[in-house]
Formats: sequence, structure tokens, C-alpha cells
Amino acid sequence: MASPQPPEARHFDAIVIGSGAAGLTAALNLAEHGRVAVLAKGGLADGSTAWAQGGIAAVLDAGDTVDAHVDDTMVAGAGLNHRATVEYVASNAGSAIDRLAALGVPFNPGETVSERWHLTREGGHSHRRIVHVDDATGWAVSQALIKAAAAHPNIMLAPGMAAVDLITHRHVLGERFPGRRCHGVYALDTARRHVVRYVAPATVLATGGASRVYLYSTNPDGATGDGIAMAWRAGCRVSNMEFNQFHPTCLYHPKVRNFLITEAARGEGGQLKLPDGSRFMQRYDERMELAPRDVVARAIDAEMKRLGLEHVLLDLSHLDADFVRGHFPTIHARLLELGLDCTRQPIPVVPAAHYSCGGVMVDLNGRTDLAGLWAIGEVTQSGLHGANRLASNSLLECLVFGQAAADDIAAHRSDSAPPEIRPWDESRVTDSDEEVVIAHNWDELRRTMWDYVGIVRTEKRLERAAHRVKNLRKEVQEYYGNFRVTADLIELRNLVTVADLIVRSARRRKESRGLHYSTDHPGQLPVAADTVLDPQLGREG
Ligand code: FAD
Ligand code: SIN
Repeated sequence: MASPQPPEARHFDAIVIGSGAAGLTAALNLAEHGRVAVLAKGGLADGSTAWAQGGIAAVLDAGDTVDAHVDDTMVAGAGLNHRATVEYVASNAGSAIDRLAALGVPFNPGETVSERWHLTREGGHSHRRIVHVDDATGWAVSQALIKAAAAHPNIMLAPGMAAVDLITHRHVLGERFPGRRCHGVYALDTARRHVVRYVAPATVLATGGASRVYLYSTNPDGATGDGIAMAWRAGCRVSNMEFNQFHPTCLYHPKVRNFLITEAARGEGGQLKLPDGSRFMQRYDERMELAPRDVVARAIDAEMKRLGLEHVLLDLSHLDADFVRGHFPTIHARLLELGLDCTRQPIPVVPAAHYSCGGVMVDLNGRTDLAGLWAIGEVTQSGLHGANRLASNSLLECLVFGQAAADDIAAHRSDSAPPEIRPWDESRVTDSDEEVVIAHNWDELRRTMWDYVGIVRTEKRLERAAHRVKNLRKEVQEYYGNFRVTADLIELRNLVTVADLIVRSARRRKESRGLHYSTDHPGQLPVAADTVLDPQLGREG
């Protein structure tokens, strides 16, 4: 049962919502200046960060240059990237890697004396550029960051705290803070089942992406776009939501639906094949298996549709078996558990939703449209990825923007007294007796997005999706208005908002660019322009 008295508001110098690479990087830097709360809706390592396999892109090889990294990123992003952001991130990569190494991340060492770290290759990169910890880089990064944060006296880690909505000027009691501003967040303590007010002059959204809006995804369950939806409701613009990246090689298995086979497997020589053993990428792109992800995912999708296949194959069996076991120990062991030896047998793979390129609009300091609110990592659209993210640029973005936002917040600290915030109002809601509605709507939404807003789009399919998402939004809003919040309801409410933003953005783009491919508009317009949605402009925004 919910407690009768609202819990006391909790005050900090900064609140970070999310404990992935972005959130913890920001928290560790902010903690040098004041008290920081880090909220995570589940366990601290439940986000995408801990699942990252391939690694982190950085120019560390003598023959490589920051300009080449910038060019590769812009080519993958189909020219929609903001060059200033790309340059900023690429040129800060080396120091970001050094900071992680100093925290104890055991990157694989180089194989020659001149090479500090081993660098692997991934699609779209013109050089070997990816530092990694075997094929489980994210786990190592996540553990090092959590350990450092847990040891910091100024950081309060709060797992099991699901942010419901940002606290803005609308929630302030009295007239002292009339201007538009973020003052913190209402969060559901999922164990005690009450909503807590976390109040601070600076709030950082680091809630990750929204790929769970699709039926098949490589992402953990919590990737439900909560931060995008919360920022949107608080009045922030979002952009480029139509660009959801599908990773070409997710394991196809009846029981295991979201296990990724890293792009580095293709980088190190893995070949895509049809069931008859023939290769097909030569018919789609001269870069073959190392073409950017959108190209490879579309090629697989086309072959599956052409031949009525449920999957294609990723073959590593021609590579030296010790090399495969040595470079991909996690994948090799997981597949063996499932009865497949990838040193001898090809791996069945399908594309699956992997990464949200769009999100909350931010500047180079991670500032959003709302004073007091910063956003970093996959929740954002910073200008780095454009119409398609280059492999292994995402963890890098988290590290660089995590630091930039913390520096900006520290440089603009204010000592004014915090406002008094209205407690969460539960006077008009009851406990739900129809949880099945949530499960049903959830399934319908994800299926709709998969069937109508997937790798290849048409105007007709998008129109169908818009219609269904509109009905689902109505139902979920009604449900939300009547029943006490639960973790599932919070996620479903956010997912329908995100689905709506994706469909609206996709319907606006009358061209094919990067990840957005429409058979009705196969050409590319001469000028690359972001799709910006503005909540201040209502439904037409
Ligand atoms: P996340 O790591 O996803 O963390 C989000 C955090 O927000 C979590 O702590 C979560 O609990 C919290 N949160 C969410 N909603 C709420 C809420 N309502 N209330 C409170 N807390 C909330 N990128 C690379 O660069 N290289 C790779 O090799 C790579 N491999 C990948 C492999 C896989 C399988 C996947 C899924 C992704 C991969 N990516 C990779 C992408 C990359 O991992 C993510 O983009 C990146 O980790 C996102 O980090 P983040 O800090 O923004 O969010
Ligand atoms: C992978 O290892 O293939 C994922 C890399 C990424 O998503 O950047």
C-alpha cells in the first residue's frame, strides 16, 4: 500500500537520472563540486552501457587522424550531422579513453610496442579505431564507473527509483520561481511504492534510448525513451526521431531475442551468407560487410523478403578458431550454451532495433531548452550522429558530453535557496485492477512500430501507424489519469509518446536519408535538415 504521508523532499546540488556511461561520467565530475543523487529505475547496471560489446571509437593509431574520424562519422550520418559537434567529440576521444583507463577499465593491450591499446575495426570506419575489452567492453566500463561512483562520498546512488516526470515551475508552491525552469524530478520508489521529490538547481537526463518501442531489439527492457518523453512533456524540443538504427546482426533464436553479435565480428572478417552458403553483400555495397549499418541492415532485410527467410547467416567458421575464441569470448560462450559452436557453424542473425539517433535537442554543453535541465548520451540529439550513427561513437558521446555538462553546471552554480515543491498528488487515483491492459497495449504498440515504422517505410504504412498510435495514446492517457503509477505504467506512457514522436517525424521526412528509407521517396533532397518537433507549438510542432 502507498504511505499516507508524502515523503519529505530530498535536496541535492545536482540530480542525475540514469546510471549508464553518460550519467555516471557526469556524476563523477559533478561530485567534485557538490552533492549528487544518481537515480536508476532498476539496478545500476541495467542500462545499455553494460551490454555494449564492440568498444569505443577514438583516434589512437599513428596513421589515423581526427579529420578521418570526422569524415567517417559524417558519411555514415548522410550529411545530417552537425560538423562542430562531430569535431568536438572526435577531438576529445583520446582524453575520454585515458580517464576510463585511469578508473581501471582493462582495455585490451596493443600487439606492438608502438600500440598502447588493441584497436579493432567496425563498419564505416576507414581505420582500426575501436578500443575494447574483449567483446564485453560495456560491462567493464559500467563496473569501473559504478565502483568509482559508489566510493565517492558526494554521490548518493539510488537504484529502484523510476523518474515519472520532471519538476518544473508548474510544480512550485508560491510565486518565488515564476520563470520556466526545471527543479528536479518526481520519482517512484519502486520498493516502497511512493513518489519522492528530488529537488536540485541542476538536473541531468541520462536515461538512454528508446529502441524498446520496437518488437525486436538488442536493448535491455528499460530502453523505453523515458527521458525523451519527460523532456517533451516539460516543453523541450526533440529532433530526428525518425532515425532509429537497426543493428544488422542480432542473434535469431526462439528463446533468446536480444543477444547482439558485435559488428567487430564482421570487422575481423565475418561474412554474411544466405542459407545456400553464398555471400550477398557484393550486390549492395562495395564495402561489403563493412558498409555502414543502415546499408547492411537494409540488404539483409531485402534478402529475407526476397527469399522468404526468417534469418540470414553470419559465418566466422573460416577464421582461425583460437582467434574467434580469443576475440569474442562472451559471444562464443553464450552461443555454446545455446548449442551453437561459432568456430564451426554459421550464426543465424536478423536486424533488430538498436539505437535512437534522435532525442532531446542539446547544445555542446548538453543544455536543453529548459533552464536547469541538461541531457547527455543516447537520450539526446546532439548533432553527432546525423541520419545514422557510426559504430562505437555512442559510448564516446556519453563520455564527452557527460564531462561537458558537468563542467557547464559547475561553472554556473547558484547558491539560491531551493523552492518548495508540491508533493505528488494521488488523491484522485486508485490501484489498478486491470494490469492486463498495460501488457496488451505494450505488445500492440511494439508490433505496430515493427510492422509499419521499420527498416523500409511507406506513406501508407506510416499513416496506419499514426492511426493506431493515436488510439493507444488515448487509452494509455485515460489509464494514467485513473490509476496509481507503477514502473510498467510509467514505461508504457513514455513509449506511446515516443512512438508518436517517431511516426510524426517519419511522416515529415519526404526523402530517404540514412536510416529513414521510404519507397515513396527514394531520393535524397539537396539540403540536409533536421526534423524538429516543438511541444510549445502543440500537435503541429
Ligand atoms: P544507458 O546506458 O542506457 O543508461 C540509461 C540509464 O537510465 C539506466 O541507468 C536506466 O536505469 C536509467 N533510466 C532510464 N529511464 C529511467 C527512469 N524513468 N528513471 C530513472 N532512471 C531511468 N555503443 C558503442 O559506442 N559501442 C558499442 O560497442 C556498443 N554496443 C552496444 C551493444 C548493445 C547490445 C547495445 C544495446 C548498445 C550498444 N551500444 C554501443 C550503444 C551504447 O551502449 C548506448 O548508446 C550507451 O551505452 C547509452 O548510454 P547512456 O548512458 O546514454 O544510457
Ligand atoms: C557492436 O558491437 O556491434 C555495437 C557497436 C555499436 O553499437 O556501436
